[in-house]
Amino acid sequence: MIIAKSLKKSFGDFTAINGIDLEVKKGECFGLLGPNGAGKSTFINMTYGTVKRSGGELSVFGYDPDKNSREIKYRLGVVTQDNALDESLTVLENMQIYCAFIGVQKSERKKRIDDLLEYMNLAHKRDALIQTLSGGMKRRLVFVRALLGRPELLILDEPTTGLDPAVRHLLWGKVKELHQQGTTIVLTTHYMHEAEVLCDRLVIMNQGHVASEGSPQKMIEDNAPGYVGIFNTNDSAKIKSITENNHSYHLHEDISGLYLRTKSLKDLTAFHSDHGLQPLQIRPSNLEDVFLKLTGKELSIDA
Ligand SMILES: Nc1ncnc2c1ncn2[C@@H]1O[C@H](COP(=O)(O)OP(=O)(O)OP(=O)(O)O)[C@@H](O)[C@H]1O
Ligand SMILES: [Mg+2]
Repeated sequence: MIIAKSLKKSFGDFTAINGIDLEVKKGECFGLLGPNGAGKSTFINMTYGTVKRSGGELSVFGYDPDKNSREIKYRLGVVTQDNALDESLTVLENMQIYCAFIGVQKSERKKRIDDLLEYMNLAHKRDALIQTLSGGMKRRLVFVRALLGRPELLILDEPTTGLDPAVRHLLWGKVKELHQQGTTIVLTTHYMHEAEVLCDRLVIMNQGHVASEGSPQKMIEDNAPGYVGIFNTNDSAKIKSITENNHSYHLHEDISGLYLRTKSLKDLTAFHSDHGLQPLQIRPSNLEDVFLKLTGKELSIDA
């Protein structure tokens, strides 16, 4: 559905995307992860021709977005990172204008808008001005807008940023439902748990490159297998001296604690019993550990 080969994008002499290869297959939920500035939104904007590529190849539904952006726009829906709603108009007016823009027939518009407002729990805000909506309501409305054209491909650029946990879970449910109905989904997010819950496959981008690719489980197995003990940073000096030069330990320290990853749960409990150091928490490694490792934020003994 989307194929990128050696895709590049420069802004002046700054290279935002430096030759990436990736493929999004029909019917999958594909995650695009990476730190701020990794090039995720730039990639997304290139898929429907809003940003023109500087090199390489890109095809969406078999079209070149730099030449056939109109054909692509009719078939995809986008939840953009910025809401881009007209604040001075009502909910209904915003949705009607968008329906006209993407060519939804006049006779169809009312029902589609009403059904989707209902679906996103926004029916009661139909006649409200956008500027009177809360941040979470605007985000849900951008979802409504993205679905008005019944898209085959739904692109979600940080769809749940700023949403409370209940609304986030509501949106996950909607995304899963659309995915089960066959919609292809591309998702960017900074919530690693969200990517684990929703994505069949994902890539982690870093500094304009693809750092790793696979299913969430495979990425964990490939990059950060095992278990993580989170320790109080007061024990940090002691833990560092014990683990020094031992390649079976991986450390990451930040304000929230010292994260010690071992290959197995047994190694972690042995570490605990041998050295009398009590972890605050023990958990299986997850995508966040992979992210921290691949984007250079983990203090790895291997590195
Ligand atoms: N129009 C532009 N002109 C100049 N530089 C740009 C432009 N758009 C993006 N960039 C730069 O390209 C890089 C990638 O930006 P992009 O918005 O794609 O990152 P992102 O991965 O979406 O980050 P975030 O997680 O913060 O949304 C950044 O360094 C950004 O400053
Ligand atoms: Mg972005």
